[in-house]
Amino acid sequence: MNQWPTLDLEDTVGDVLRKTMRGSRMNVAELAAATNIAARSIEAWLADRGAPDADEAARLAAPLGMERRRFQQRAAGAWYPGDLALPLVHRHAQLPHPSNGYVVRAARDERVAAIVDPAGRPDVLLALLRAHPLDYSYILITHKHDDHCDAAEAVASAYPDARIVMHEVDAPAIGALAAEALPIRKGERLPFGTRNEIELIPTPGHTDGSSCFRIGDLLFTGDTLFAGSVGGCFGDRFGYTDLLANIRRELFVLPDATAVLPGHGPPTRIGWERRENPFFTDEEPRH
Ligand SMILES: [Fe+2]
Repeated sequence: MNQWPTLDLEDTVGDVLRKTMRGSRMNVAELAAATNIAARSIEAWLADRGAPDADEAARLAAPLGMERRRFQQRAAGAWYPGDLALPLVHRHAQLPHPSNGYVVRAARDERVAAIVDPAGRPDVLLALLRAHPLDYSYILITHKHDDHCDAAEAVASAYPDARIVMHEVDAPAIGALAAEALPIRKGERLPFGTRNEIELIPTPGHTDGSSCFRIGDLLFTGDTLFAGSVGGCFGDRFGYTDLLANIRRELFVLPDATAVLPGHGPPTRIGWERRENPFFTDEEPRH
């Protein structure tokens, strides 16, 4: 039950520039002054009209806290994650949203499964779940945005035995169901099938309650970490510095081979992100 269409990277070069500028608190005029690049060129790149060449990318990288090599590679459109074989994971689109939803099984020989980020048209999602008659034990929700949880009520009513797991800070987004949600606390693990566990990893930054779920060598990251990017910051208490620090401290310490299943865009691996993601530098912790 595995289908991986070719997905575009979640963020364009313009998106990467915008997020790093916001994170570094630099506007176009300040960045132009710091790099000696014309403001109108930066504005064009922010709108994805063209992209910086290698020399321009090198000049932009330092003031925006990026590694020169990584941003040059990204600006040249020369990076995409490699192929992954993920037999226990099914990814589905969540139209009308652009987000990824997932079904993950505990093991090849078990029917216990979890739904990650129930969103999009409930009839479409329920039809998909019914087409795979598994024992859905958990509804894992990475964060409060509609494109990750607006079908929670429909899925919870169809699968009343499935436990909802969502950070309490973000849980008001699912209304009355919030009262039934298992909270997310650092280091906690839930039993999953006969041999596996789901590790709950709070990673505030995209939202204050944004969290990741690790099941063996699979990591569901919501809008915290994407292939070649990170989520935007919409929290009240936590921001860009927290987001990057949490990714470094909680996610980049996982083994290189850990598969990353993000809320948007293609899957990737922890090792690839630690080495190539332009939001981080080469001095990240090694595992
Ligand atoms: Fe989001």
